[in-house]
Formats: sequence, structure tokens, C-alpha cells
Amino acid sequence: MPAPAIRVFKNLDELSREAATEFSSLASRGQPEGKPFCVALSGGHTPKRFYEFLAAPEFATKIPWDRVQLFQVDERCVPPGDGQSNYRMMREAMLSHLPAADKHFHRMIAERPDRDGAAADYAADLRTTLRTPAHEWPRLDLIFLGMGDDGHTASLFPGSAALEERQRAVYPNWVEKLGMWRLTLTLPVLNAASRVIFLVAGEEKAERL
Ligand code: 6PG
Repeated sequence: MPAPAIRVFKNLDELSREAATEFSSLASRGQPEGKPFCVALSGGHTPKRFYEFLAAPEFATKIPWDRVQLFQVDERCVPPGDGQSNYRMMREAMLSHLPAADKHFHRMIAERPDRDGAAADYAADLRTTLRTPAHEWPRLDLIFLGMGDDGHTASLFPGSAALEERQRAVYPNWVEKLGMWRLTLTLPVLNAASRVIFLVAGEEKAERL
């Protein structure tokens, strides 16, 4: 695995524009055997501007959306219209303006009372869409991650059970410090990806990063 490259940008706009440029150039490369280009997207505040760039004509018209499949990295266990919903943020920033992307968006149904079932169904959808061979981890082409103040990424919070999960690809995680359930991709899936990009903004996160 190559050493991670760290790139620093002047502001959130520059970071977001560069993320959209990377997305667009990777998505435009041909995929082997006509496979779709499969990307997982994070929630939180930081990537909102990036999603707005993706929906802007400058990028939206260049990306071959019919060959892109979009997944979620994690989701808060709230209804999709809730102010805390990652899906809602993505819908408002990008999906509602971009029917071609919306059509290939795989939402985590995190509001389902049966969270184990919701996680298992999402893992099955990942495997099918990514054409994952049996006994292998789903291998996403690209994952955009964020990082919280406490160093968590996806919904893998320090001290929470999901950090230790090595069997399931998607895990319903209880986050004690937030008093909230989340669905999250697990470490084996994050580590199996062909490429991972962390979008981290704010000087206060530099030390932790
Ligand atoms: C979420 C996430 C999470 C996020 C970090 C950073 O649902 O919150 O996907 O892992 O990336 O918490 O969030 P901010 O960008 O809001 O700081």
C-alpha cells in the first residue's frame, strides 16, 4: 500500500473542488468488464460543499453517472427527513438536483426498527452491485471519509463495538456519547477499498489527523 499523501488546501471551497475533480477523473476512467464505478460517501458537515460541486454543471455534465453507483458510508438511525439524516444532507446538496445520480443512490434504511436486518440488507446490496466473489470483502472503487474531533471516521467511534467487527460489512453501532444508533461500513470494508480519500476541514482537527 502506498504511503498516504496529505494535501492541505486554503479553504473548504478549494478542498471540495479538488475532491470533485478527483471524483470526476476517476469515474471517467473505464472500469474492467463494464463494472460500475462504486463510491461510498460520508455524512456530517464537511462534504456538503463537495456534493454541491458534484451537482454543479461544471462537474455534473462530465461525470458518466449511468456508470456510477453511490453508497453511504454511514447513516444516523433517524427518518430520512430528519435534520440529522446524512441522506437528507446529500439529497439537498446533490441528489435532488441530479436525477442521474439519485437513480443510482443506495440509501441506508437506518430508520428501520430491525437494524440488524437493515445492515444485512445493505451488505447484500453492496455485494451484489459490486459483484463481490464469495468469501471476499466488498471492494469499493472509492470511499470518501471524514473525521470527527474525537478521531472517529465513518461511525466507528472510539470504544464502540463496530471498531472490533470483523465479520459483517455493515454494522448497527450504538454510540454511547451521542446516545444514538448508527449504521456504518466496517473496517474490513474501508480497508478493502481501492482508494480512500479523507476530507477533513478545520485547524482544530489537524493534530488528531
Ligand atoms: C457522520 C459521518 C462522520 C463524519 C465525521 C466528521 O455521519 O457524522 O459520516 O464520520 O464524517 O463526524 O463530521 P463533520 O464533517 O461534521 O465534522
